[in-house]
Amino acid sequence: MGKTSAWKGQKKALRCTQIRNENFKTGLISKVRGDIMAIPKNVLTALNKQINAEFLAAYKYLGMAAYFEDKNLPGMASWMHNQTKEELVHGMKFFDHIVDRGEKIVLDSIPKVVVSYPSALAVFEAAYKHEVAVTKMIHNLVETAKKANDHTVMPMLQWFLNEQIEEEKSTDEIVQKLKMVKSDSAALLMIDTELAKRKEA
Ligand SMILES: [Fe+2]
Ligand SMILES: [Fe+2]
Repeated sequence: MGKTSAWKGQKKALRCTQIRNENFKTGLISKVRGDIMAIPKNVLTALNKQINAEFLAAYKYLGMAAYFEDKNLPGMASWMHNQTKEELVHGMKFFDHIVDRGEKIVLDSIPKVVVSYPSALAVFEAAYKHEVAVTKMIHNLVETAKKANDHTVMPMLQWFLNEQIEEEKSTDEIVQKLKMVKSDSAALLMIDTELAKRKEA
């Protein structure tokens, strides 16, 4: 396409496209998308919040990995390192979705996390509790997106709903096993060996 026709095409695209005010202010239009592709404001806020929640989850799991490293439970530490990586991937899915739809990323601060726990059971109970809270966040996101008629975000949110089934199931299974172990350190080491087998995310 020649320079002139490319410019004409761009001009036409600009006419049909919702351009946000800040783009006009600077004269630098970094992203151009159609009206329907634009993310409704409250959905965008919730998606950006979810990036933060996923990275906070990664940080929480890293704190749990640190605890298990300290307690010489390398299998559980490795399980937590994998979980950390998985949460970073989740955060990036939301990040990419926002970028791909031409919207602005907001990266909020991540608070300090716990690195000491009373027991291995307490760690996995905290992990399970956290996953339940994340499931609720994803459900709220679906509700927000539904009300705003944002159909485009739905396939990604559906992926997360399915992922949360797995996240709750896997952490709860470990909680139940650790409840059976009680103070039997041989059984605890067996679970540690089992958790070391988890494949990398
Ligand atoms: Fe996640
Ligand atoms: Fe998770």
